[in-house]
Amino acid sequence: MKTSWIKWTLSAATGLVVAGCATYPDQETTRQMAEKMVFEAFTASPAHMKRLEQDRSQQICSKIGDAKLSAEEAAEVVKLARASIRYPASGRLSGDWKAGDRLAHDGSGDRIRNGKTEPNKENGALCQNCHALAPGEINVGNVGPSLTGYGKQRGNSEAIVKYTYEKIYNAWMYFPCSNMPRLGATGHLTPEQIAHMVAYLLDPQSPINQ
Ligand code: HEC
Repeated sequence: MKTSWIKWTLSAATGLVVAGCATYPDQETTRQMAEKMVFEAFTASPAHMKRLEQDRSQQICSKIGDAKLSAEEAAEVVKLARASIRYPASGRLSGDWKAGDRLAHDGSGDRIRNGKTEPNKENGALCQNCHALAPGEINVGNVGPSLTGYGKQRGNSEAIVKYTYEKIYNAWMYFPCSNMPRLGATGHLTPEQIAHMVAYLLDPQSPINQ
């Protein structure tokens, strides 16, 4: 009697689970629903609402769960990243390390409060959020690798300057879909600001290399 009751309960429960699963929306529908919810919950000026529109690379990189990036997709992200790079009008990829130092620790700009972007002279870069910078700084993140001694370890060759510039402009050119933001390609930093970041990482005088 007892056994048959357990059997009945188990099979009913299994039936419910199977029926429940069968009615879940598929991944694509779930994604569309989630994106719609975000769009509807976020209020800002039309220019800022544009930020919610994913470009082609971001769509490729926004995979659900642990879905793997295919070789073709990775190649497309790299190709789009390469095409996105702009260089400073002066042609100089390395600027003023002092300006870079300030920007690396500055998180202002592009922040939205009450539906408006804060008034600000220029956007900060806030590399500090994700990277260790000058030796001894304790208020730093570890999402990205430590950049302490970056220039000391790599030198100042033309190839390193170019790599560092492009890496900051669009990190996905060298590591598709990484967690490093595409600071130049998204328009957050200007080419001149990125050149300052390059100087900050590579100049022997910079605190990073002390
Ligand atoms: C949201 C976190 C985040 C921010 C902000 C960020 N990075 Fe990164 N960065 C990463 C991650 C993660 C990696 C490793 C993956 C990769 O290479 O793309 C990385 C890699 C790098 C590398 C390559 C290191 C190497 O060994 O070749 C450089 C250079 C770099 N970041 C510089 C910067 C600079 C300069 C800034 C600020 C302008 C910055 N990053 C802002 C997350 C971040």
